[in-house]
Amino acid sequence: MSFPFPDVSTRSLADLLSLRGRRAVVTGAAQGLGKAIAARVAEAGADLLLIDLNEDAARAAASELSARYGVRVVSTRADVSDTASVAAAADLAVAELGGIDIWVNNAGIFPNAPVTMMPDEMWDATFAVNARGVFLGAREAARRMSGDAGGVIVNIISTAGVQVAFPGMVAYVGSKHAALGMTKALAVDLAPRGIRVLGVAPSFVPTEGNIAAAKAGAEAAAAAGIEMPPLEVMNTSLIGRVGAPDDIARVVLFAASDLSMIMTGSTLLADAGETL
Ligand SMILES: NC(=O)c1ccc[n+]([C@@H]2O[C@H](COP(=O)([O-])OP(=O)(O)OC[C@H]3O[C@@H](n4cnc5c(N)ncnc54)[C@H](O)[C@@H]3O)[C@@H](O)[C@H]2O)c1
Repeated sequence: MSFPFPDVSTRSLADLLSLRGRRAVVTGAAQGLGKAIAARVAEAGADLLLIDLNEDAARAAASELSARYGVRVVSTRADVSDTASVAAAADLAVAELGGIDIWVNNAGIFPNAPVTMMPDEMWDATFAVNARGVFLGAREAARRMSGDAGGVIVNIISTAGVQVAFPGMVAYVGSKHAALGMTKALAVDLAPRGIRVLGVAPSFVPTEGNIAAAKAGAEAAAAAGIEMPPLEVMNTSLIGRVGAPDDIARVVLFAASDLSMIMTGSTLLADAGETL
């Protein structure tokens, strides 16, 4: 069995960072981290398929990135927790872009409730998107990757994949620990096919989605008489400022590019020192 990861030591830095000629898929790309990741991947030269439940916003993001970076960017509505939906999106990437070299499992949800108040539905939905979604994305991508053009799967995890920063996160923390574990297991399964699998674990970065989720969780806890930490604690870090989506996107670009050729199965902490 061969493990075809080339030694890229003699290639220039610019060439190693370039994604020109690669075909990339980013899930949950209509807003937040996914859109920022898609932007850097497009800037690096890859053609892209943007996947999201929010079809209109994904289409708008695709037009914006295509116009800005001069690469082909298409979009589709798909639910990452649904097998047929993910398979159809992966087929679309092959039909529209000619193949798949990079797949970023970014779509995620972060409902928050104290465990005594957490309904089954919240647990199931969180694992459906954050854990099953990673499995389905990786499987459908790997089935369509040739492996000869630097196949890479990047899973967007969280510092919640390695620690518990707040109460009320049993489903989210569980799902992100699962995603981190799957990143290792996927790397083992897919190395013989020439596919690297990496995780990126961001610290708190304000996005449309997580601001809304944190507020909803705090309100629900307050209504139940449970004290939650103030949201401001999320805004402190060793780098002296709160992270921006592009801080995370640049780490994903490193993971997706040939610069990180030596790495597979590991999760890069993009956490401003949060987990020290
Ligand atoms: N923002 C942060 O502070 C932070 C920190 C750590 C990890 N993360 C992770 O980064 C990822 C993106 O987070 P974000 O803050 O950008 O979130 P966000 O809510 O702003 O954006 C998520 C996008 O995913 C889409 N989506 C949700 N469920 C989907 C599904 N089933 N199928 C397809 N698309 C779906 C949403 O429509 C949305 O456009 C998540 O996996 C999250 O857990 C975020």
